[in-house]
Amino acid sequence: MLAVLRGVGGALPARAVTNEDLEARLDTTDEWIRSRTGIGTRHQVDPGTATSDLAVAAGRLALENAGVDTVDVVIVATSTPDHRCPATAPDVAARLGLGTVPAFDIAAVCSGFVYGLVQADALIRAGVGERVLLIGADTFSTLVDPADRANAVIFGDGAGAVVLGAGTDDDLGALGPFTLGSDGTALDLIRVEAGGSRRPGVDPEEPSAWFSMQGRAVFAAAVAAMADACRSVLGSSGWTADDVDHLVAHQANRRILTMVAAAIGVAPERAVLHLDRVGNTSAASIPLALAAHASEMRPGDRVLLTAFGGGTTWGAGALTWPDLDRPAITLV
Ligand code: UT7
Repeated sequence: MLAVLRGVGGALPARAVTNEDLEARLDTTDEWIRSRTGIGTRHQVDPGTATSDLAVAAGRLALENAGVDTVDVVIVATSTPDHRCPATAPDVAARLGLGTVPAFDIAAVCSGFVYGLVQADALIRAGVGERVLLIGADTFSTLVDPADRANAVIFGDGAGAVVLGAGTDDDLGALGPFTLGSDGTALDLIRVEAGGSRRPGVDPEEPSAWFSMQGRAVFAAAVAAMADACRSVLGSSGWTADDVDHLVAHQANRRILTMVAAAIGVAPERAVLHLDRVGNTSAASIPLALAAHASEMRPGDRVLLTAFGGGTTWGAGALTWPDLDRPAITLV
């Protein structure tokens, strides 16, 4: 048995923040943001709305899309949990009425969803459960200094969820093979320096309490790592670049998507572009892109997934698109 995709759903905060909104309060322009990143709009939570609120909404839609109301495991991939302790997943499971199932978080930043797919697949293969709800959910607006123009224009909040069931590799929706990697020597490329156990109790107004990213170095590392990971999965799946109908890469920057596609020989129009509407939603970006672009995917289409994020971490995986009802994305 292995993991098979059975349902998808997404959730975005109702409040959309356009490039024009950012122009009004930051030293930036719509032209800079669009030309450097491809982003036009992102959504942000209002105070009082937490990552779990988006995760619950996305999870509910994924369960409905799959036509199920029970699962055996709940996994939430996030680096913006509701609390430093405990994990967000048990609360999400309880609020979805899923009972006392095992529930835990994965922290692999923007690669969290791909890490979660591998974890879900392993749990299904091991017989721990037959059905897993995996949710990628992040509220980076709670981590990024609103005055930091470099990062405030890039990130958006959101959640995307999938239901994975036990099946065989002949099934539509079958996932895998996968590859994952990390390089902790590059830890400082993407991080929130303070507020963890190394530097607890920091004044929230200190710069070290906010998210920081070395954009150019991350850009280069992201292209290289995602291209390598994709090549590895193409090799192990036996797919050629021409076989790939949709490249669903982590939605960080349109130029990154174009460069990864070019590096692995996938036609640029096959690279799914969702970041123009939602920005970089970290762990939510791949499942949200799947939910938003499902209408362009036909049963049996070959989908190559890949992500890169803080840690640094990266991964890729193969997916044969299932025969799904059209997934929904709700506003919270
Ligand atoms: O999700 C995890 C993975 N994350 C990523 O993959 C992100 C990867 N990195 C990127 O996407 C890009 O590096 C950024 C979009 C973050 C930045 O684009 P860039 O082309 O690498 O710009 P830069 O950081 O090299 O900055 C170029 C210039 C600088 O000005 P000077 O030094 O040339 O005078 C920045 O100060 O652009 C300036 N700049 C801005 N200007 C207007 C930086 N942010 C802005 C802004 N508006 N928002």
